[in-house]
Parts: sequence; C-alpha cells; structure tokens
Amino acid sequence: MLNIGVIGSGGRGGLARHAHGEDKGARVVACCDLSYGTLEKNREFYGEDVFITSHYQDLLEQPLDAVFICTPDFLHEEMAVATLEAGKAVYLEKPMAITTAGCDRVLEAAYRTGSKLYVGHNMRHMPFVLKMRSLIEEGKIGEVKAVWCRHFVGHGGDYYFKDWHAERRYSTGLLLQKGAHDIDIIHWLTGSYASRVTGMGSLAVYGDNKNRIEAGTGPRTRGPIIDKEFYWPPSQQEDLNAHIDVEDISHLTMQLQNGAFATYQQCHFTPDYWRNYCVIGDEGRLENFGNGEDGTCIKVWNTRKWGNDAPDEVHMVERPKGGHGGADPRIVAEFLRFVREGGPTYTSPIAARFSVAAGCAATTSMRDGAMPQVVPDVPLEWWRYFNEDFQSRRLPVANAVLGPRDTATNSHSNGHLVR
Ligand SMILES: NC(=O)c1ccc[n+]([C@@H]2O[C@H](COP(=O)([O-])OP(=O)(O)OC[C@H]3O[C@@H](n4cnc5c(N)ncnc54)[C@H](O)[C@@H]3O)[C@@H](O)[C@H]2O)c1
Repeated sequence: MLNIGVIGSGGRGGLARHAHGEDKGARVVACCDLSYGTLEKNREFYGEDVFITSHYQDLLEQPLDAVFICTPDFLHEEMAVATLEAGKAVYLEKPMAITTAGCDRVLEAAYRTGSKLYVGHNMRHMPFVLKMRSLIEEGKIGEVKAVWCRHFVGHGGDYYFKDWHAERRYSTGLLLQKGAHDIDIIHWLTGSYASRVTGMGSLAVYGDNKNRIEAGTGPRTRGPIIDKEFYWPPSQQEDLNAHIDVEDISHLTMQLQNGAFATYQQCHFTPDYWRNYCVIGDEGRLENFGNGEDGTCIKVWNTRKWGNDAPDEVHMVERPKGGHGGADPRIVAEFLRFVREGGPTYTSPIAARFSVAAGCAATTSMRDGAMPQVVPDVPLEWWRYFNEDFQSRRLPVANAVLGPRDTATNSHSNGHLVR
C-alpha cells in the first residue's frame, strides 16, 4: 500500500481521491491546506487518522511514498523542490512553475536526488487528444507541419479573474497558466518543442469591470468562489480580483525544433468553453469537434476537396467517466504505477518544462512589442536522464536554432521513459 500526502488538499487537491482505496493500492494519509474547513472535509473523506497540517514542511516529515502538490502555481517550485529533496515521489500540478528558471530548479532537484517527478498534464489522458495522436501515428495526415489551436475559455471571468490567477506575480499570465496545457499538446502532436515564439494580447474586457473585491493582503484562493453561479455577459461579473494585470485575450505563434509551426489563441470572454485543434500534415489535416462531451469527434480530410466538403473520415470519441473527460482517474492511475514500477508515461517532466518555457517566452514577447523570443534549452544530461528522445525533436544541425549537438541514449534511468 502506498502512503500518499496532499499539499493543497482543497480545490484541485480533490484529484488525490483517485489515489485512495484498497483497489488503488494506495491511501491518502496526510493532508496540508491553509483552510481549516478543507482539512475538516479531508478528515471526513479520508478518515479520522489522516494527519492534517497547515505547514507543508510538517507533512514532509511523515513517512510518505508520494505527495500530490496541488497548490496555486506560484508555490509549485518551492514545494516541489522540498518534496523531492525529502525523498518523496512528486505529482506536481501543471504548470510546473511560473518561470523557466523555476522549472529548471525542479528538474535539477529531481535529477540530483533521484526522486521521481511526474507533472499533471492530464490533457494527455483525454480520449479526444489520444484519438488525434493515434490518427497521426497511423499516418492519416502524413508528417505534421502545423497545429492551430483555438481555446475558448467561456468561464474565464468566473475562474481566472477573481483570484490569484489574475495577478502576474502569482501566475505570470494566462498565456502560460492556461496555455501550458495546449502548448504541451501541440508539442505532443508535433513530436517536438518550441524553439522560437512571439506573443500578442491585452486585457481587453475585464479591466473595464469595476465590480471588484477589496484589496486583501495576500493571494485569494479559488475554491469557494467557483461554487457560485456563473455570470454572463462579462460586464455582469461581480467580485473580480482587486488587482488584475494579466491579459484576457492572447495569441502565440511558434516555430518548433523540428521545423513545424503552431499558433495558439486564447480568449476569456467567449460564451462557449472548448478547445479546437486543427493539425495539418503533408498528406491531410484533422480537427476535433468537442472535447469529450457527447458527439465529440475527430474529422479527417485527406483527399482533394473543393470548398467546405465533408471530411473523408469521422472518428467518434468515447465519453468515459471521471473529471476532465475521464482524464483524472487515468492520470492518477498512471502516476501510482509510475511510483511503484517506473516505466513509460504519457506525461514528461521535460515536456512540462518546455510548455512553461514557451508560455513564459511568449508572455515576454506579448509584453514587449511582440519581439520574437528564443525558448531556452535544457542540459543534455537532463534529456538523457528523463529519457526524452532528444534527436528526433531536432532540426538538422545546420538549421538548429539552439541546443547542444549530441544524441540521446534512451537509458531508463529512474524509470523515466516518455511514451
Ligand atoms: N490539470 C488540471 O486540469 C487542473 C485543473 C485545475 C487546477 N489545476 C492546477 O491545480 C493547482 C491548484 O489550482 P486550484 O484552482 O485548486 O487553486 P486554489 O486557489 O483553489 O488552491 C488550491 C488549494 O491550495 C490551498 N493552498 C493555498 N496556499 C497554500 C499553502 N501555502 N499551503 C497549503 N495549501 C495552500 C488552498 O487553500 C486550496 O485549498 C494550480 O496549479 C492549477 O493550475 C490543474
């Protein structure tokens, strides 16, 4: 039986429930949160014996095999480094950290200590994403040359402009905070990582809304806020964060290390909430309609067409049970297996780091006249250690934008191997 701890056991910390039970071979035995009400609820759910604390350092002194870190983004770096140094396996919520340097500190700690690091990019377990990936792997559209992703964040005002997400000092910005998911999927579908990016965006709508809470002394937690009703249109929003300095509409363009291109567009004031990926290869294109709700499908066009003709193939996507389109129970099951046995995982610490690095660089560009930014690379030994296939993600050396010129050996050190 694995003994599990949770830091940030309210809000997203509810994910750890999937790691609690005889059938899971794991149980949650320690919880840490700043909210006493949350800790009380944890006791009700996990049992009277669960250790509770508001100091994460106390939790790390418990005999634990693994720890879920589900606190707000700006706490990830410090808490992950401390947990890895305490010799516990880590499930770290995305984004890995709010700066590239912060991610590199986390990777360095995992590399140095040998503690297992797993980052919670649960979209890699969503059936519609897996379907797109398997169609690409089957060769339905040839070699991927471009991905265009539109992200309609219908509940933007309800979820991201009332708490810590709305402040640069706690999130860097939403192009990173929300975009980390999609940048990661773009990387996964192209089989490469961003090398250069540009960004553009602004605070176009929520900045004008003066229905604000009074300024507090610290970051406002999200939990209790989102139990309230949703508001529409955005001008009707109430209780917005006192200080808002992140963008509500943003755009990213990027060139990947293998030469493919991608765009990502995020808007927080649309009426609808979903993500639409258009993936273009040299022998066709595919596109998702829906993100896991009934009727979700992937359409494939790979013969010559005129105008808006019907697709050549339509692949329906299953609708499994569980949070985030069934992804949450699956990602926790994969994490528990990784803690026990190591082996291949859908998620990757290197990929998680590159999604932050691309998001941060695009945010810098967005706030600096759309100047192109180079996405910094990581040391070669980290590519090797985390078992990333370094070579296949590279441009030929003559075209390389960045990076050490060497090859990776896929040694299975520390059980890390990315599927
Ligand atoms: N993968 C996903 O689909 C997904 C979905 C939602 C959130 N998230 C991520 O999960 C994380 C948490 O998001 P959230 O919306 O639950 O945030 P939140 O504001 O609700 O905070 C989560 C919990 O952390 C607690 N907390 C805050 N500071 C703490 C501290 N210093 N010590 C201990 N506990 C503390 C809060 O009281 C709260 O219970 C974020 O990094 C977010 O990006 C991921």
